[in-house]
Amino acid sequence: MENITQRQSGERAVLVSISVQMLDDLDAEEFQLLAQSAGAEILEHISVQRNKPDPKFFIGSGKVDEIAELVQELEAELVIFDHSLSPAQERNLERILKCRVIDRTGLILDIFALRARTHEGKLQVELAQLKHLSTRLIRGFTGNLEQQKGGIGLRGPGESQLETDRRLIRVRITQLKDKLVKVQQTRLQGRAARQKAAIPTISLVGYTNAGKSTLFNILAKSDVYAADQLFATLDPTLRRLEWDGIGTVVLADTVGFVRNLQHDLVESFKATLEETLEATLLLHVIDSNSPNMDEQIEAVESVLKEIGADAPILHVYNKIDLSGDAAKIIYKAPDVPDRVYVSAHSGQGLELLSQAVQQCLMGQLQHFDLVLKPAYGKLRTQLYTLNVIQSEHYDEQGNLQLTVCMAPNKLEQLIKQAHLPFDEILGKKATLFQRPLEEFELNDTTISH
Ligand code: GTP
Repeated sequence: MENITQRQSGERAVLVSISVQMLDDLDAEEFQLLAQSAGAEILEHISVQRNKPDPKFFIGSGKVDEIAELVQELEAELVIFDHSLSPAQERNLERILKCRVIDRTGLILDIFALRARTHEGKLQVELAQLKHLSTRLIRGFTGNLEQQKGGIGLRGPGESQLETDRRLIRVRITQLKDKLVKVQQTRLQGRAARQKAAIPTISLVGYTNAGKSTLFNILAKSDVYAADQLFATLDPTLRRLEWDGIGTVVLADTVGFVRNLQHDLVESFKATLEETLEATLLLHVIDSNSPNMDEQIEAVESVLKEIGADAPILHVYNKIDLSGDAAKIIYKAPDVPDRVYVSAHSGQGLELLSQAVQQCLMGQLQHFDLVLKPAYGKLRTQLYTLNVIQSEHYDEQGNLQLTVCMAPNKLEQLIKQAHLPFDEILGKKATLFQRPLEEFELNDTTISH
């Protein structure tokens, strides 16, 4: 058992972590930060050793009794588990502990609820909360949820619906989904306009607390909310800016990633990450001072993979004023930067960041000479819409000869989607895009499903 200094007054909470292999002190620290971000006053943090979860209580019944005594002694109002609990486990625990119990998903949703600022963010949080809570309506301890308004895990836009029954919640979920579709359509229109102008979009992604908002502020010279609380950013914040030596770019700040972000949570917040999917370049901001750095990098990259983000990544090792690393760029190939070391706080390495971004974007945009048969007019229209055509004329055979300047992966995507032959269009340059046949077949099958 570990005594925690009371840093913040709020709802009196006992935290419970289950130690499986590889769980270390820093996971404990992250969990405490999450709880504090939700405004909990941490009374005690208990770590329980267990190989596998108990179906009834998640932890052993002896441990439950021990925690129940502690809850009574410390007059705790809430017990937070650093894991996902089933609705039944939550109910069973609440019955014995005689106070509210929330799990990691509930805690994260609560923080999202506190942080959501834009209309879309709020809708998403409400939707995710309602989905999470709809299975937990028959609660053991909380009983009348009306009386519990304002507590951790019960706040936010979803709260007013808690006293209603499941049928009403289903109606509300449908309404929210419709609203979200509309809001997302509006956002997509903005994105289409940007694509038309062929402005590169750079998305800042990274583990929560890595320093994305701080870096964003410096680059955008704006004042996006940056705080030493996890998830200070929820909605993607977009800025169009003139980056010295690079030109006009759209910079997007995104919500921070965490370990064990459940798949359905990723789904609920996918829209906030959509900018990431569309980005020309991803800046993966890393806290170089975190002893858990490697795990955090891994967590972020696996989520990026899961959501299908395939833009090139520049790793930005931030906080070098704390880690003691020197400001530098590390290249994976000539002129292709892989990492850059900076401090968003002290400003060290920021000019190297500009240089690295410039090199990444240069590598991104290439000239291609294309030959399009008259039947391939749809591809020409798409290229025209993207505003990437530099010159065009018809040859003697009536084919359109085009020179475009664009990202190779975007061109590949367009040709592939239109099911057109690479070699006819690109001539010798088609080899740039040649991959094993199976891979194309596999992709085609995926698309047709
Ligand atoms: P989320 O919104 O939780 O995803 O966090 P974020 O990645 O946007 O992090 P944010 O910019 O809010 O920074 C988190 C904390 O780290 C803040 O207290 C910053 O002041 C601090 N920070 C950011 N960059 C640096 C840096 O280069 N050096 C130091 N010493 N602190 C930094």
